[in-house]
Amino acid sequence: MRGIILAGGSATRLRPLTLVSSKQLLPVYDKPMIYYPLSLLIELGLREILVISTPEHRDQYERLLGDGGRLGIRLAYTVQDEPRGLGHALLLARSFIGDEKICLALGDNLFHGPALPERLSDALRRHRGCTLFSRKVTDPEQYGVATVDGHGRVVDLAEKPERPSSNLAVTGLYFYDNDALGKAAALKPSHRGELEITDLNRAYVREGRATLVELGDDGAWFDTGTPDSLLDAAQYIRMNQQTGARPIGSPEETAFRAGLISREELERHTRPDAPAPAGRRHGLLTEPRP
Ligand code: DAU
Repeated sequence: MRGIILAGGSATRLRPLTLVSSKQLLPVYDKPMIYYPLSLLIELGLREILVISTPEHRDQYERLLGDGGRLGIRLAYTVQDEPRGLGHALLLARSFIGDEKICLALGDNLFHGPALPERLSDALRRHRGCTLFSRKVTDPEQYGVATVDGHGRVVDLAEKPERPSSNLAVTGLYFYDNDALGKAAALKPSHRGELEITDLNRAYVREGRATLVELGDDGAWFDTGTPDSLLDAAQYIRMNQQTGARPIGSPEETAFRAGLISREELERHTRPDAPAPAGRRHGLLTEPRP
């Protein structure tokens, strides 16, 4: 399975923070936002991950994360010239994905909870078609919303509906089989001119090949795309990190626990004076420009 982290978009809801900075490089407490989805994908076992960003921020991501070698993984980079939707971004990853399955993570989504890794790993083991994760929220109109039948099976999805059919928000972590590429290629732009991930997911729902896994209340999920949610997420990380035994969203620490790097490498890479990875262009799995 190949991992993709979406770190493009225009992030207008975070202006002026994002006038010159990329949203997914902004701090969530003590780390850049993208560290959290990157750590999650490493924890789930992904070892080849593509970061999709805007053209102007691509080099910053590469300087921050490098080629992944120091984490025991492979990182590649490509750009999306304009924010034409999550479905469009997926299409840019075609040659990176090849015939593999796909784990797509939105770069501004943050998941955390003691039972969460096991819940997600279990969903990954059972995965067929498309697997979505929902969370109960009080403001479903801000998200993709799932309609479920009496057995909890997903029967429909809507993107930011004015009158939501449920309080189940679809979160920004998606597992797909390789058919997602063909389905994404068949998408038509929505009224806001984007190839919507919800339309891609609906194609799976129509075929009865979508599974919805409800994330319980024991963990936390943040879409950090607004000033308030960004602050909430930072406060959550500060509180839980101070009371917990380990850092949250540390790619190095996650790589160490996964057996990808040694304790000596972990200590070397997380020292306050450790240099940035400064990605080496040579040998990177760099996608051609679209
Ligand atoms: O957070 C979960 C929600 O994310 C889902 O419930 C929605 O169904 C889904 O459409 C998405 O909604 P948002 O309005 O939050 O999406 P946003 O525009 O913030 O983009 C999500 C991430 O993808 C963010 O990291 C920016 C990146 N992105 C976005 C667009 C539109 C790209 O890389 N390229 C794009 O073209």
